[in-house]
Amino acid sequence: MSAAGSSSAPVPHNALPPPSGSSARTSRIASHSHIKGLGLSGEGLASNDNAGFIGQTNAREACGVVVDLIKSRKFSGRALLLAGAPGTGKTALALAISHELGVKVPFCPIVGSEVYSTEVKKTEVLSETFRRAIGLRIKETKEVYEGEVTELTPTEAENPLSGYGKTVSHVIVGLKTVKGTKQLRLDPSIYESIMKEKIVVGDVVYIEANTGAVKRVGRSDAYASSYDLESETYVPLPKGDVHKRKQLVQDVTLGDLDTANARPQGGQDIMSVMGSLVRSGRTEVTEKLRREVDRVVKGYVDQGVAEVVPGVVFIDEVHMLDIECFTYLNALLESPMAPTVILATNRGRSLVRGTDDIVSAHGVPVDLLDRCLIVKTETYSREQVAKVVQVRANVEGLKLGSNVLDRLASEGEKASLRYALQLLTPASILAGLAGRTQIELEDIGELNELFLDAKTSARAVNTTDGGFNGGLP
Ligand SMILES: Nc1ncnc2c1ncn2[C@@H]1O[C@H](COP(=O)(O)OP(=O)(O)OP(=O)(O)O)[C@@H](O)[C@H]1O
Ligand SMILES: [Mg+2]
Repeated sequence: MSAAGSSSAPVPHNALPPPSGSSARTSRIASHSHIKGLGLSGEGLASNDNAGFIGQTNAREACGVVVDLIKSRKFSGRALLLAGAPGTGKTALALAISHELGVKVPFCPIVGSEVYSTEVKKTEVLSETFRRAIGLRIKETKEVYEGEVTELTPTEAENPLSGYGKTVSHVIVGLKTVKGTKQLRLDPSIYESIMKEKIVVGDVVYIEANTGAVKRVGRSDAYASSYDLESETYVPLPKGDVHKRKQLVQDVTLGDLDTANARPQGGQDIMSVMGSLVRSGRTEVTEKLRREVDRVVKGYVDQGVAEVVPGVVFIDEVHMLDIECFTYLNALLESPMAPTVILATNRGRSLVRGTDDIVSAHGVPVDLLDRCLIVKTETYSREQVAKVVQVRANVEGLKLGSNVLDRLASEGEKASLRYALQLLTPASILAGLAGRTQIELEDIGELNELFLDAKTSARAVNTTDGGFNGGLP
């Protein structure tokens, strides 16, 4: 089911803004790093333990159906709602769906509370997220020169304007492919971009014929060293002629295009850089600019240059949205270019935020619920908790002593799966303090004296003497 790009995929080029992906978003999924996908068989059935996912078979199969619907583009205008108790794997399921869709499909996770900002309107945050989830695959056939650099000789000439110094009048670049070699005589401005990309003899590069943009693909593998750890990427010698037509593909999102166009196009001098630092508060992209971007994009699509790739918006803790956001969400879902929407919540019946009388299932108003397919996640049995704990211990590189797994499983059954998982790291620290590399039962025992799980804590504060404040009024 993997949709990863094949090795023959065309190389992306650098004529457009780089696709965004802030590091803050990646750090949030670290506790799910063992989840590699939904782990379904070819027929869409969930075997008990696959791709890091344990149990939760019904929900996984349901999500598999949704993935198929998304892939065949039959899910737009609808939403998937994952509902279930805390720590039952809703966020994990959403991530697994994103893995199944492949890297080329934009996946934008946000948490319901992210819409509340003093600088940007809530609806603005939502529509920006939706725009970021609509990908655009731009295909261009370009005339390029591609090959391994065999020669790089700048030719200097006297500067005609001043008596001193010399300027580069042109540069000779030799390129080699499997089929042949070619020597190019290039403009000094191209020499500048060559210097910028730090290209040296032995690199594989391509140069766009009509723009002169230079792109370093990697180092030719003829120069590969025998070190095991290196930051260099080695690529084979390009096939075909040096001068050829090549299809280049670039993936961007509508959100990228919006921000790229909204940023004031300042110069490269220090003052405008400083200015943009001071003004780095989030600026709103105006509706007018969006329409302008849409118009250009539509033109590209009509010409067959670009293709729209609808992605996925994942809103975790959706009950944190308020009634205004929900109505806006309805409107967004019905817009002609809507991404797939996945929502997750751990609330049962609760008040819809922003109202004081509408109580609804999952804290989501009925009109939005009506547009949702709802998938419920089940709580885990003791064996399943044990399995997940074992998987996480392997991922975190922790060794468990005898009976520790059993003990953690019963903790997990009493409290929640997440509590059991959360005990792992502190337990490993206690084990380290005791000079062991393996977690033993006594570490877990000590932890239970040090920390409370949610349920015990709740019981403690619910006692008649007023809990922690010792009965003070
Ligand atoms: N079936 C499963 N197999 C493997 N790991 C799981 C499974 N279910 C949950 N986990 C792991 O358990 C932890 C808690 O799950 P997750 O964060 O997805 O819960 P959640 O349903 O989103 O909870 P909340 O409602 O509190 O947001 C995560 O580290 C997740 O990767
Ligand atoms: Mg969650």
